[in-house]
Amino acid sequence: MKEIQQAVHYLKKNQLVAIPTETVYGLAGNIFSEKAIKNIFELKNRPLFNPLIVHISSSDQMGWYAREIPEKAYQLASKFWPGPLTLLLKKKNNIPDIITAGKDTVALRLPNHKLTLKLLQNLDFPLAAPSANPFGSISPTNAQHVYDYFGEELPFILDGGPCTSGIESTIVGFENENPIVYRLGALSVEEIEEAIGPIRITNHKEVNPNAPGMLSKHYAPRTNTIVSDSIDAMIKKYERNKIGVITFSTQFDFPAVHQYEILSKSRNFKEASRNLYSAMHRLDRMKLDLILIEKLPHYDLGTSINDRLERASKRE
Ligand code: TXA
Ligand code: MG
Repeated sequence: MKEIQQAVHYLKKNQLVAIPTETVYGLAGNIFSEKAIKNIFELKNRPLFNPLIVHISSSDQMGWYAREIPEKAYQLASKFWPGPLTLLLKKKNNIPDIITAGKDTVALRLPNHKLTLKLLQNLDFPLAAPSANPFGSISPTNAQHVYDYFGEELPFILDGGPCTSGIESTIVGFENENPIVYRLGALSVEEIEEAIGPIRITNHKEVNPNAPGMLSKHYAPRTNTIVSDSIDAMIKKYERNKIGVITFSTQFDFPAVHQYEILSKSRNFKEASRNLYSAMHRLDRMKLDLILIEKLPHYDLGTSINDRLERASKRE
């Protein structure tokens, strides 16, 4: 395919390419090219202490880049790869320090997107790819979002349509072989526990040295954003303002609201997570005074979505 060949061309020249994945679009570069990797940090305005995820094209490659792999990591990989799961494992020496911010662990992910898998298979190096957005802003879930952020500064966007999961991958690491969720994401804790039994979730409201990217303010619109359980009370409180409202499934009828976004009329978590960032992007472009977002029920992907909402609404 012509687009894949174009992407290969740029990546081999140490340039960056935006890639589609099932979660969000990534800003990808050759992990072994210092030039490309520095460019990722610069373009995103991302601090160098925040490590990057390494995208591989098959589960076998786990052993190329990681060592002392726990049994449960293999189980998770065989059950959920390709898919929205990132494994934090002890790194081998071939992974450059700039990728891991000098840490002893590497984050590995086998994404589930036809085009990107094909692209990875056509390269003889893995791709480092953080989400393709400036540091701290809402992640992109379609090619237009990426273009709106970077325009011509980015040589090439591989357009793979809208992302099907719509929020970032779940990050799982290990402490003495015991699994830990470091970032809630598109793979629910329930699904993980069904596969490997109970898993600890770190309270990533605290400073989490293992995932420094888990800063509390993140995934945030530029517009002031409030997240609430009782969205109707909030609408009443702010109805003198120009507000946009994102609800899980409820269709309210407050004439004061400028724009409504309903994530899933049938209360389907997958549909809601697929729609979340697009809704946030749309409202953020409308020059509103305030975005009000309704919290989801706190289980399954609702937990992951609520985590994102909390960060989106943090002031600092
Ligand atoms: O769904 C996803 O994971 C997307 C797509 C593009 O694959 N990528 C993504 O990357 O969300 P990014 O860079 O936006 O978030 C990666 C997170 C950061 O919080 C980072 O700190 C953490 O993973 N991370 C990466 N490598 C790590 C490491 N060696 N140790 C601890 N945390 C790590
Ligand atoms: Mg990100």
